[in-house]
Order: sequence, then C-alpha cells, then structure tokens
Amino acid sequence: MRIGLIGAGAIARRHIGVLSTLEGVELAAVCDSDLARAESIAAGAAVYGSWQQLLEHPLDAVFVCTPPAAHAQPAMAAMQHGLAVYLEKPLARAAVDGEAIAAAWRESGGVCAVGYQWRSLALIGRVLDELAGAAPGMLISRSVGPTEPGRAASWFGDPAASGGILFELGSHDIDLQQALAGPAASVQALSGRGLGAGGGALDDAVAVLVRYAGGGLGVISVAWTQQQPPIYELDVLAPEVALHLALDPGFRLGGRAHGRPVDQEEDVDPRTSAVTGFLDAARRRDPAAVACTPEDALGTLRVALAAEQAIASGETVRLGG
Ligand SMILES: NC(=O)c1ccc[n+]([C@@H]2O[C@H](COP(=O)([O-])OP(=O)(O)OC[C@H]3O[C@@H](n4cnc5c(N)ncnc54)[C@H](O)[C@@H]3O)[C@@H](O)[C@H]2O)c1
Repeated sequence: MRIGLIGAGAIARRHIGVLSTLEGVELAAVCDSDLARAESIAAGAAVYGSWQQLLEHPLDAVFVCTPPAAHAQPAMAAMQHGLAVYLEKPLARAAVDGEAIAAAWRESGGVCAVGYQWRSLALIGRVLDELAGAAPGMLISRSVGPTEPGRAASWFGDPAASGGILFELGSHDIDLQQALAGPAASVQALSGRGLGAGGGALDDAVAVLVRYAGGGLGVISVAWTQQQPPIYELDVLAPEVALHLALDPGFRLGGRAHGRPVDQEEDVDPRTSAVTGFLDAARRRDPAAVACTPEDALGTLRVALAAEQAIASGETVRLGG
C-alpha cells in the first residue's frame, strides 16, 4: 500500500515508526506547509509543500496529521480522491467542520478511521462483553499527564485553534466513554489553571460531568502535569460489574464481573493496532471495520464542544435535541 502523510509533526513521526515495521506498506509521499519538516521525515519518500500537490501523487491511503482546525479540507479532498483516510483526533475543532467531514465520508462510501486509538484495544471488547448490553451506571476517567514537549508554543497554545487540554487529552476520555455508554444527554464542566503547566495562560485542569441518554453518569478529570508516571485510567461500574482499566503505558483490565475476578493484559500498543486495523479495513474496502468512524468521532466532538460551552457559560448544556 502506498501511504501519504499530510502534516509532518509529532504524531506523524509516531505513525512512521509503526508503518516502517509493516510488510507491504510503503511511505510514498509526505507533505507539510513547512517543507523542511516534511524533508526531515521523508526518508526517500516524495516531498511536497501542500496537500493539494500530495494528492496528485499515486497513493492508496493518507494519514492526516495536521492540527485540528486544518483537518477538514485535506481529509475531505482525500476522500473525494477515493483514498482511505486515517484522520488524527479530534475529528475537527469546529462543529461545522466535523459535520462536513462526516457527510463527505458517508457520501464517499470509503474507509476513514479517526485516531482515537484506545477504541482499538481488545480490552474494550472484553468490557462490552462483561456489560452484556447493560448501560454502565458510572464511568470514571482520569488523564493526569503531560502534553507533547514544546506544546504550549505551538498551535496548542491558542485555545481557539486547539481547544486546549479538553480537546487534546480529555477528548480521548470522552471518546472512550461514548464507546461504552453511547450518546450523551447533557454535560456540565469546569476548568482551572492552578497547576502552572500552561504558564498561567492556558487551562491546565478540566472536570467534565456527563449524563448519558442511557441513564448513567460519566466523570472525566483531566490534569496537565509532569506527574510521573502519568495516569490514564477508566473505571466502569454497572450492576455486577466493577472494572478498572489502566491505559498507557501498560494496558490492563482488572476488577470483578458477575462474581468472577477479571485480570487481562494487552501487550499490543493501540497506536499500532489502530493503524494496522485501519490498513486492514482499507485493503478490504470495509468502512465499518475501523475502530472509530467519523460518525463516532462526531459524537465525541459534540460532547467536547458542549463541555467547552458549559465551561464558558457555567450552565448545563443539553445534547441531542
Ligand atoms: N492520537 C494521539 O494520541 C495523538 C497524539 C498527539 C497528537 N495527535 C493529533 O495529531 C494532530 C497533529 O498533532 P501533532 O502533535 O503532530 O502536531 P505538530 O504541530 O507536531 O505537527 C503538525 C504539522 O502539521 C503541519 N501543518 C499545519 N497545517 C498544515 C497544512 N494546512 N498542510 C500541511 N501541513 C500542515 C505543521 O507545519 C506541523 O508540522 C492533532 O490533531 C493532534 O490532536 C493525536
């Protein structure tokens, strides 16, 4: 498969690390609006200064690794070119872009996976099996850790462009909760800057409360710190089910379900399984075979935007009409 990379920054480097280990996969072209960045990771692939030029190169799939506000145009153009698309999370920064991407994906009939890699964990299938169709009564997520080095000086430092840690870190938690609990009915949220991580200019602590349409509650705590090791985890509570999922750097599910202990580890990093799952879906031309579709990620974007609105207004924000 001939792969094109759009945006040659931190996450693109990680994807190259995975792609370079796979047989039958060739990094064919790289583009970045900063040409030197594209050249620095190309390793023999063709280099372009714009995604419009890159899409003229013969390709089978592209990875869109630009900042969130620059996802929609290249992703939609790639779909219109008939290419499979791995689109980094969040789906978009603005609702209008997210809706447009999801509509373009439906119209194209093609394969598009959004980079919420935790959905690719086999452990999530185990949690769903233990829930056996029951709605979780409570989900408790914690993300306590750093962002990419140098982040505050990049596009991330402008909350209007990035959505801050709510979108960068917290949207992973929102997405995983959506995968288990389904659509949200209402959202409350608060944010603060008491940790010093954003130099006083950016929120570094966010707390989100979700009421799910199925009746359960979600709690999401996000803190931007240098805490070592970082903590990424989720508790899933339902009648007869009390599970704890450790996420990153190790992936382990523990607790009890239906009177039995649960202890299951996963040794494949979901950053790898998300990419290999996408490539398999692309080879089979099966849009439903990816872990997170644009439609799934649009649900997550709506909750993140509702949380942002709740922080700004201090009000509960209702979703889904
Ligand atoms: N899935 C994950 O765990 C994860 C982790 C980190 C980042 N991300 C996501 O990946 C995306 C990129 O993040 P990053 O950390 O790699 O950012 P980055 O700043 O390191 O890299 C982004 C690159 O895109 C380039 N770019 C910007 N606009 C462009 C355009 N219109 N055309 C071509 N190139 C353009 C920039 O020059 C830069 O080199 C974001 O959406 C981010 O949320 C996901």
